[in-house]
Amino acid sequence: MSQKILVTYATRTGATQGVAEAIGKTMSENGAVVDVKPMSTVSDLSPYTAVVAGSAIQASAWLPEAVDFIRTHQGALVQKPFASFLVCMTLAMPNGEKYRPFVADFIKPVRSMVSPVSEAQFAGVLDLKKIPSLGNRIKFGISVLLGVWKQGDHRDWNAIKSWSASLSSKLN
Ligand SMILES: Cc1cc2nc3c(=O)[nH]c(=O)nc-3n(C[C@H](O)[C@H](O)[C@H](O)COP(=O)(O)O)c2cc1C
Repeated sequence: MSQKILVTYATRTGATQGVAEAIGKTMSENGAVVDVKPMSTVSDLSPYTAVVAGSAIQASAWLPEAVDFIRTHQGALVQKPFASFLVCMTLAMPNGEKYRPFVADFIKPVRSMVSPVSEAQFAGVLDLKKIPSLGNRIKFGISVLLGVWKQGDHRDWNAIKSWSASLSSKLN
């Protein structure tokens, strides 16, 4: 069967969708046939030879619907090459890089269900206007005032591109 890759994602405010689309674009440019889809629209993994799945981080974890997706499709995922990514704000903190090992463990529950051939962690976006809950807007607003992190788009497109390019050989 020729290679067909699913890049699927869970997002709350759109940043992770942008990362998934960038991953899909690089992989297509490198010759793969790629579908990029939200997890909520994926019910069948059988058309795909490999899966790349990613989620925004909230409360130091993948979104619950993303973990549910892995649980639902665990049987199919363990039989295909699988890579994972996450998008979070911890890595956008000043000295955020030193938290990378801590951030990498945000996907422990995923690893316990399926072993990724590769894992990536990316800094995301903080846009207070897009946070739906007033309580969380206030909480994140205070954290910005305290200098924990800055509002804005912290996605590192070169890092995203470079990881995506590295996947071609790992997803065979
Ligand atoms: C309610 C809420 C909780 C969050 N919790 C965390 C967290 O625990 N750790 C972290 O690094 N980032 C956290 N973030 C930051 C998001 O992961 C980041 O903004 C990400 O880019 C959002 O991606 P999305 O736009 O795809 O939803 C949180 C954001 C929100 C709105």
